[in-house]
Amino acid sequence: MASEPQILYSDKFTAEAMVKWLSSFGQDRSGGVSRLLYSSSWVEAQHALKGKMEHAGLTTYFDSVGNLFGRLEGKENNSKTILTGSHIDSVVNGGVYDGVYGIIASLLAVQRLYQAYGKPKKTLEVVSLCEEEGSRFPLTFWGSGSITGKYSLEDIQNLTDSEGTSFTNAMKEAGFDPMNYQSPQRTDIACFVELHVEQGILLDRQAKSLGMVSHIVGQRRFTIQITGESNHAGTTPMPYRKDAMTTASHFISYLTAKAQETDPGLVATVGKITAKPNVPNVIAGEVSFTLDVRHYNEEVIDEFCRHLFTYFESFTKNEEIQLAIHQWMSVKPVKMDPELTDLFVKIALNKNISHLSLVSGAGHDAQMFGTFCPTALLFVPSVGGISHSPKEYTKSGDLEKGIDVLTEFLYKLAYE
Ligand code: HGY
Ligand code: MN
Ligand code: MN
Repeated sequence: MASEPQILYSDKFTAEAMVKWLSSFGQDRSGGVSRLLYSSSWVEAQHALKGKMEHAGLTTYFDSVGNLFGRLEGKENNSKTILTGSHIDSVVNGGVYDGVYGIIASLLAVQRLYQAYGKPKKTLEVVSLCEEEGSRFPLTFWGSGSITGKYSLEDIQNLTDSEGTSFTNAMKEAGFDPMNYQSPQRTDIACFVELHVEQGILLDRQAKSLGMVSHIVGQRRFTIQITGESNHAGTTPMPYRKDAMTTASHFISYLTAKAQETDPGLVATVGKITAKPNVPNVIAGEVSFTLDVRHYNEEVIDEFCRHLFTYFESFTKNEEIQLAIHQWMSVKPVKMDPELTDLFVKIALNKNISHLSLVSGAGHDAQMFGTFCPTALLFVPSVGGISHSPKEYTKSGDLEKGIDVLTEFLYKLAYE
């Protein structure tokens, strides 16, 4: 029986060095990362990563939507594929580690196993998923959702970004012409495993090095559009106004208070707001804001949204203001695979690495895979629990511990 994988380190290939390298694509001087789907920094990052995968001896290819794969063929040629990776896109002005760490961890783990043990029995694939955040277009999980069959070209036909660029044009300009689209849906995936920074405070506060995720919360995203009447800021007495901004601010305060009193596990966020005509001396005729609601129990989300939208509808009717509620994202709470998760626990215990089990408040590609194949999600700590911010940080030692455990996990699945 082969001994434990000999982990090969070299300065050039430490996790921290590789994460900083990949995150440099789309990083601005303030240290924030903006690498949006199909943008030039996204294209550069994917192609640079493709080179690194080839350097590691993997066979690389893109699917029709821009998911990048690095494949290490197994000796058992009809074996299903063990897929591991995360997403390459980011939020706007986000952190260095979100998504990128999972891709680098998977690449380094597979590279180290290949160097130490040669070809595996079962095929291993590292994947850089094209999009997860939903930060450019109003659609999330485009990469994992395409592989798992949740999405096809129809789902993106009428989508545009905030500058009016269509999804299909952005896709074509990035080199993935929809005319050449072939379904990216896979039928050969044995399991999916993702490493990710926690993006929350639990591991850091409890001084644990690893988090084994039991469930990922359900999540819904909406755009709430309020239409009143633009008018002159100076000549329109207060009682005669149909001010969309006043209504929006009332709704945002109301939903925040409601979320606080409903359930400690419920979170509701208004992250984006636009006003028209958005000038100081005109009463806003139209305001749109996004609403992101999450909880690990779907009924709590149902009840919260039902109450909220009933209140919004009755309020706007009295004020003769129009209301439009558009839901553009909904994912159910998903349980991770207990067997795969237990294997992570066993390895952590063997290596005497501190760990705890937790629910993920952040959405992840593992959520898409979780209803498609056996899936596991492993966290490393985020210092101060900060994420989606240039302040996002994970200690180098914790980055390496995560890779150390993932390497052994993949060894047991693909080599034993
Ligand atoms: O929003 C999220 O939960 C994830 O970071 N996309
Ligand atoms: Mn994120
Ligand atoms: Mn992420």
